[in-house]
Amino acid sequence: MRSTAYISGACALIALFVLACARDAPEGPGPVGTPYPLHIPSNFPPMPLPPDNPLTVEGVQLGRHLFYEKRLSGNDHQSCATCHSFSTSFTDGVSTSTGIDGVNGTRNAMALVNLGWQSFFFWDGRASTLEQQALEPVRNPIEMHDTWPAVEAQLQADPAYPPLFQAAFGTSTIDSLLVAKAIAQFLRTLISGNSPYDKWKRGEGTLSADALAGYVLFTTEAGPVGQPITLPGTNTTVIGQGGADCFHCHTEGLFTDGGFHNNALDEMPADSGRALVTHQAADLGRFKVPTLRNIGLTRPYMHDGRFFSIEQVLDHYDSGGHASATADPLMKFTDPGSSMGLTAEMRTQLKAFLDALVDYEFVGDPAIRDPGPP
Ligand code: HEC
Ligand code: HEC
Repeated sequence: MRSTAYISGACALIALFVLACARDAPEGPGPVGTPYPLHIPSNFPPMPLPPDNPLTVEGVQLGRHLFYEKRLSGNDHQSCATCHSFSTSFTDGVSTSTGIDGVNGTRNAMALVNLGWQSFFFWDGRASTLEQQALEPVRNPIEMHDTWPAVEAQLQADPAYPPLFQAAFGTSTIDSLLVAKAIAQFLRTLISGNSPYDKWKRGEGTLSADALAGYVLFTTEAGPVGQPITLPGTNTTVIGQGGADCFHCHTEGLFTDGGFHNNALDEMPADSGRALVTHQAADLGRFKVPTLRNIGLTRPYMHDGRFFSIEQVLDHYDSGGHASATADPLMKFTDPGSSMGLTAEMRTQLKAFLDALVDYEFVGDPAIRDPGPP
């Protein structure tokens, strides 16, 4: 009895001491706040999170305000959401985006979904973290065309923002790195995993017969059944299986393999793509493989928005595109006269499958819309 009482007395003392220490902990810049309950669909892997920017309720909410904040641009007219609209899976519906000065860029605004699982950002992959990516649009002269010191001063002068930074990061002194951290936190919550395809995968729903047939085409090797095909530019031979070959690059799950490929759009690409970053000839015309999630909402398509419909995209893959030194060998039908041989029925089926990748719960989610003024 006596020794138990002694032990519990000692425990109470230790507990008091720990509490006192916790209360005295210095409050500097760094993660503070309430851990954010991230809901990851059961058919997805865990999301890797950077140790120096854990998700918090306060950080995500601040990032959401900043994503819709027009004062991040030079004339206070453009926010991230101007080019990344939630109702179209965060795209802008035009081939190439226009910045605040009316200058048209050369690239198509990318869908912002399931970014937390990716390791490269932009069509050429020049940013390798979301924190790094978020710094760029503000100072890009053909996008938001502002300077970070000006943005920091504007946000600091608004009585609403300093307390939000205090709650999210333990400091009310606003700087660009904290703005980028908060936006990156919000971007990581843009998880799309409730399409009919996902529900079918999880055993929660069914797909139409056309969509199921499209899924089989999507995940099956192309070429006439049983016929050997030599991959262009290689000595490798594969046996045709009558499919459409999409899965090699648009790998099931995220519907991107996370890598860079040249899908044979041009013989001489006007945009060098990945080579702009690596300066390697082998990367000429290679671009980040975009996700196909919500593809029915994100037209026009490709890095320059050259195709306006899924039919045009299927025409491209059916005809095989243009041969070049860097065209991916998996683009098997670049030889003139050869083709994948997609019939009208196969096209209908592939399109039905791509439509089953649209997640209307995601684009209708009130938690990702403009939250209004902070
Ligand atoms: C003027 C239109 C425009 C504005 C404003 C804009 N973006 Fe973008 N965004 C684009 C375009 C175009 C691309 C592709 C650019 C490239 O590849 O060079 C892109 C690419 C991205 C990507 C890469 C996605 C991926 O899969 O690799 C992210 C993330 C992103 N933007 C987030 C943001 C954030 C955050 C903001 C606000 C701070 C923002 N954008 C402001 C047009 C815009
Ligand atoms: C060799 C790899 C590869 C294969 C095989 C492939 N794709 Fe792609 N896909 C890409 C790349 C890379 C891009 C982006 C190219 C660009 O913009 O320059 C792309 C872009 C797309 C886009 C436009 C997405 C957007 O957001 O703009 C669609 C749609 C698409 N592919 C569908 C398909 C379908 C359907 C198949 C099968 C018939 C297929 N892809 C096979 C690599 C591939």
